[in-house]
Amino acid sequence: MATVREHYDGVLAEHYTRMLGDFEAKVTEQRALLERLGVSARPSGGLAVDLGCGSGVQSVALARLGFRVLAVDFSQRLLAELRDRARGLPVEAIAGDIRDVARLVPAGIELVVCMGDTLAHLEREADLDRVFHGVAGRLMAGGRLVLTFRDLSGELRDLDRVIPLGAWDDLVITCFLEYEASTVKVHDLIWVRQPDGWRFRKGVYRKLRLAPARVTARLTAAGFAVERHEAPAGMVALVGVLAGPRRALQRRHGRMSSGRGSASGGAKTARSQSAGASRKKST
Ligand SMILES: C[S@@+](CC[C@H](N)C(=O)[O-])C[C@H]1O[C@@H](n2cnc3c(N)ncnc32)[C@H](O)[C@@H]1O
Repeated sequence: MATVREHYDGVLAEHYTRMLGDFEAKVTEQRALLERLGVSARPSGGLAVDLGCGSGVQSVALARLGFRVLAVDFSQRLLAELRDRARGLPVEAIAGDIRDVARLVPAGIELVVCMGDTLAHLEREADLDRVFHGVAGRLMAGGRLVLTFRDLSGELRDLDRVIPLGAWDDLVITCFLEYEASTVKVHDLIWVRQPDGWRFRKGVYRKLRLAPARVTARLTAAGFAVERHEAPAGMVALVGVLAGPRRALQRRHGRMSSGRGSASGGAKTARSQSAGASRKKST
């Protein structure tokens, strides 16, 4: 079985952006989502990190909102595309694994996003802790972590597991989902038209079956107060606000039993997770 990285390098990265549809429309959608989630840059600008940035729909949206952006991904092909699409904007592409966020970005970050189901591409659920704690160590007090991902805790059945991802004159992409206990095998079936006829490519990789309640618990354990919202294409959005200095002080003086619970910034506790999985594959 290919790793996620191998699958993107060998099969998916080449076609990924086309699957998103119109790039500008997607940037506009993601910008509106970020604004709805309460994201705004200070007039003097601020530093944001986009984890698993792909070709840059969120990075470009953040830059247009006034942020300077550090965009992290392990796909060189998608990073090259992002550099091209973000030309003239304050976006820096960083090649790396998002699990190494603590090493890849400086301290004093205002906002971190990990959107479009990137989180589900991590190898194991425990990797979420490494990302969340790494982010917490790099965010300023009161800083935010915005996640969007698909709730794959439920299962599609029978032919519903066969999902058309897009069809163009020269490209047809379908995926098939095979459920396992804590992961789902995603089989990508891709037809590409060549001058001498159609060429068939296939590949399979594993995604995590993330459940919003468990992601919320891991965020809370890393020191975030969490709000839950809806995101486009049936995704879940979680907004984590990092505990402020007052809370850190309270913790140091032993008035808190743990780092859990609500934090400064007025965030509400996450609502309970909704049931069911959605049909579409990623962003
Ligand atoms: C579904 S795409 C989402 C891309 C973008 N955020 C969007 O919404 O279009 C997932 C992206 O995460 C990247 N990725 C997955 N796991 C990663 C990891 N551990 N480290 C760095 N990048 C990763 C992939 O290369 C891919 O670009």
